[in-house]
Amino acid sequence: MIDEQVEVLANDEVAEEFYMARLQAPYIAARAKPGQFVNIQVSTGGAPLLRIPLSVCAIDLDAGWIEVLYENLGPKSEVLSRIGRGVSMACLGPLGNGFAPPPAGARTCLVGGGIGVPPMLYWGSVLQRQNYPVTLLVGARNKGKHLPDELLAPAASVVRRASDDGSLGQAGLVTDLLQEELAGDAPHAVYCCGPHGMMRAVAALCRESAVPCQVSLEEYMACGIGICVGCAVELQPDEQGAAGSDYTRYGRICVDGPVFDARRVKWED
Ligand SMILES: Cc1cc2nc3c(=O)[nH]c(=O)nc-3n(C[C@H](O)[C@H](O)[C@H](O)COP(=O)(O)OP(=O)(O)OC[C@H]3O[C@@H](n4cnc5c(N)ncnc54)[C@H](O)[C@@H]3O)c2cc1C
Ligand code: FES
Repeated sequence: MIDEQVEVLANDEVAEEFYMARLQAPYIAARAKPGQFVNIQVSTGGAPLLRIPLSVCAIDLDAGWIEVLYENLGPKSEVLSRIGRGVSMACLGPLGNGFAPPPAGARTCLVGGGIGVPPMLYWGSVLQRQNYPVTLLVGARNKGKHLPDELLAPAASVVRRASDDGSLGQAGLVTDLLQEELAGDAPHAVYCCGPHGMMRAVAALCRESAVPCQVSLEEYMACGIGICVGCAVELQPDEQGAAGSDYTRYGRICVDGPVFDARRVKWED
């Protein structure tokens, strides 16, 4: 991991308040695994002081770029959304552990809710290249918050959508789609990223169906490298001490995660 000075090659709106930034980042592009993230300094002159952690959404090894996909939600993402081509930024990465691969030939189901979709796109495209059958379930508030087909297509052979208001795909929650998948020819492995409540529900459904599930957790972050302990997540009592860190009761999402076996996470409201 290094703090790479990266150049913005493109930074365009791809859905309502969702932006895709392409960054010339040869060091990170050569090393980033699906599920890993970068921590980007969007401002050099004061606020916002903290960096923004964003999952790697795509890489091009030959061209040496990475893409990050983000929603304009608050101060950091708003500043980033206004940065144009040619600007340089400090980008720390690749960070975190990344997804553990499924067993050979496993039917995999990727579940992305809202802005949890980006890590699924990178992971799905890698799995597809390795000939895993991949189904991608995407949930969003409405049609405007859904990403275009061409961004999702490389990540899965089957893409299913749900929206809260029924304006695109099935009306309802992405967990409704997962329930249908689990009731049918169930996947052998589920990977999930999205809002906390959604991941908790996905973890519970997978547990009931005895399907292994990995979740990519998100929490406020400062350092991104395990020092500030600002990103702690409580782990299940029977897994205490298994986080591979010095902290026995909590894992740090930035270094012990962001990807965890869903059974290891202590799911609170
Ligand atoms: C490992 C990791 C990977 C991430 N990948 C992506 C990604 O690929 N695309 C993307 O858009 N976002 C991603 N996020 C979340 C993103 O970092 C935050 O939304 C961002 O920091 C918001 O900063 P802000 O200043 O724009 O808004 P803020 O004002 O800080 O936050 C805006 C809203 O988002 C909530 N929020 C902020 N940070 C987090 C967080 N870390 N987890 C949960 N809720 C949060 C706040 O409660 C608030 O409601 C990731 C976070 C982590 C930890
Ligand atoms: S963000 Fe500082 S320890 Fe994780």
